[in-house]
Formats: sequence, structure tokens, C-alpha cells
Amino acid sequence: MTDKCYMCLLGILCPLLTGINGAEVTHVFCSSGENVSLPCNNALSGCTSTTWNYNRHSSAVELVAGGKKKNDIERHERLNVGSDCSLNINKVTKEDYGSYTCCQYVNRQEYGTDVHVYLHVLQVSLSSTETEIRPGSSVTLSCQLYHYQIFCDTLVRTDGIQLIWVNQTGVNLTTDSRYQISPPGHCISTLTTTLLNEDHNREWRCQVTQRNEVKTSAAYIVKYSTPVTTQTVTTVTSSKTATTTNTSVISTQPGT
Ligand SMILES: *[C@@H]1O[C@H](CO)[C@@H](O)[C@H](O)[C@H]1NC(C)=O
Ligand SMILES: *[C@@H]1O[C@H](CO)[C@@H](O)[C@H](O)[C@H]1NC(C)=O
Ligand SMILES: *[C@@H]1O[C@H](CO)[C@@H](O)[C@H](O)[C@H]1NC(C)=O
Ligand SMILES: *[C@@H]1O[C@H](CO)[C@@H](O)[C@H](O)[C@H]1NC(C)=O
Repeated sequence: MTDKCYMCLLGILCPLLTGINGAEVTHVFCSSGENVSLPCNNALSGCTSTTWNYNRHSSAVELVAGGKKKNDIERHERLNVGSDCSLNINKVTKEDYGSYTCCQYVNRQEYGTDVHVYLHVLQVSLSSTETEIRPGSSVTLSCQLYHYQIFCDTLVRTDGIQLIWVNQTGVNLTTDSRYQISPPGHCISTLTTTLLNEDHNREWRCQVTQRNEVKTSAAYIVKYSTPVTTQTVTTVTSSKTATTTNTSVISTQPGT
């Protein structure tokens, strides 16, 4: 494994063997926008010995050293160290997926074994080319699990991970003929449907399940810009006519 504590890179005594055998791996699933807490269960009290490193695609970053977060890293505002030395990440984005390693250093020597936490992030996005969300248009939602250091095939076949689409009442939509859902067994799943009037505020949720237990989920909520109601809504009038105005002509100042 390449994601051992990267104190080694700084020239400080490398532990000879914190082997794969002794290493503990935790898989954490969360959705983009959520807050997540990554456990470090080999921590010593007070956390002053705790280091957290992040690794993805062989670029390693030290996030926390001596129990304190580094303030010169890109996402430091979203990170903090919990009282139990866990690493809390606020408002997770898909860019946060990867491997997090918690290690303890006592007198510059590594103490105990590394704790590896693999963070897998789920994200739902609109992937259709339709520009307008309105009744009658066809939309495609894409749900993707950004997974790290484990093949999707392993997640699906060995660990029993599934991506499924459900509606507000939690009904599995796979067999509902209103939706075209891509075949299962992948870490990306699409749902295509034609929008109906009554879909305003409707929610379609993509869940990551492991043997029927929901690990995390992310939703898309339909919002029509022009509300489809029987009432007269005066605030939303033909916005199309306004868009043809050439603002650069209007703002041209006469004279110099
Ligand atoms: C995430 O944490 C922040 C700051 O602690 C809090 O304001 C926010 O409500 C939390 N969000 C969720 C989804 O729990
Ligand atoms: C959820 O889906 C089921 C099956 O397609 C349907 O009968 C039910 O009305 C749906 N519920 C909502 C709130 O959309
Ligand atoms: C959802 O429904 C499909 C088709 O019936 C089924 O193959 C799949 O196992 C279901 N998934 C869950 C998590 O219930
Ligand atoms: C807007 O006005 C500028 C300056 O006259 C012109 O070059 C441009 O082609 C106009 N654009 C449109 C969309 O009419």
C-alpha cells in the first residue's frame, strides 16, 4: 500500500513495518454536501500525537500534525479535529474522496499501527443536455460513487454494494416503467424520465445499499422555474422576451 503516514517523506524516522497485516481499513460512505467524521481509533488521549494524512492518486498531503490542523492547505476551513482525534470534514465534495491515514507519533517515532479510512463520496447531478427543467422535457440524473483503492466490481460483487433509485416513499424505482434506469452492477447509475406537471418539488434519491442497509444517499429535487399552478402567478412572466436585450449597446457611454 502506498498510503502510509507520510512523515517518512519529511525525513523523520520511518517505521519499518506497519504492515498491511496489522493495518486496519475502514470504508466510509457519504454524500456530497454532508458532514463526515473519520474515526481514528488508535489515538492517544489529548490527540497531540495524532497525524492525519490524505492521499489520492499518489499525491499526499498532511492535514493534521501534532493534533492540530494545517492552515496552509486548501480546504482547511472545512476540516477540524474532534475531541476523540477523529477528522471531521464539513460539506464534503466529490474531491474529498480518497484515503485518510491516522497515525500516532510519540517522540518522533510512530506508535501503534496506522488507521486507514477510505472515504467514498456519492454525488447526484443533472446530466441531460436539456436546458430547461419543465414539464414535458426529458431529464437524466446521474448518480456516481467516487470510490478509492477498491474496484467497483469488488464493491458490487464482494461487498454487496448497490446503487438504487428510490422515490420519496423509499420505493425502489427499478421496475417502474416511468423511469429508464441503467443496469445495476456499476458505481454510476442514471435515471431518465419525462417530467410531468406534478413533479414540481418531487425528489428522486440515489441510495448506496449494502445488503439492504442504506449506507448513504443523495437526492435531486425537481424545481420548475415557472410554477405550474392553476393560480395566476404575476411575478413569473415571459422571461424569454427580456433575454434578447443587447446590454453592451445599452451601457455604451456617449462621448470621451
Ligand atoms: C455541518 O456542520 C456545520 C458546522 O458545524 C453545520 O452548520 C451544518 O448544519 C452541518 N450540516 C449538516 C448537513 O449536518
Ligand atoms: C413511489 O413509487 C411507487 C411505485 O412506483 C408509487 O406507487 C408511489 O406513488 C410513489 N410515491 C411517490 C411519493 O412518488
Ligand atoms: C431494486 O429492484 C430491482 C428490480 O426488482 C432488484 O433487482 C434490486 O435488488 C432492488 N434493490 C434493492 C436494494 O431492493
Ligand atoms: C451587441 O452589440 C455589440 C456592439 O454593437 C455587437 O458587436 C454584438 O454583435 C451585439 N450582440 C448581439 C447578440 O446582438
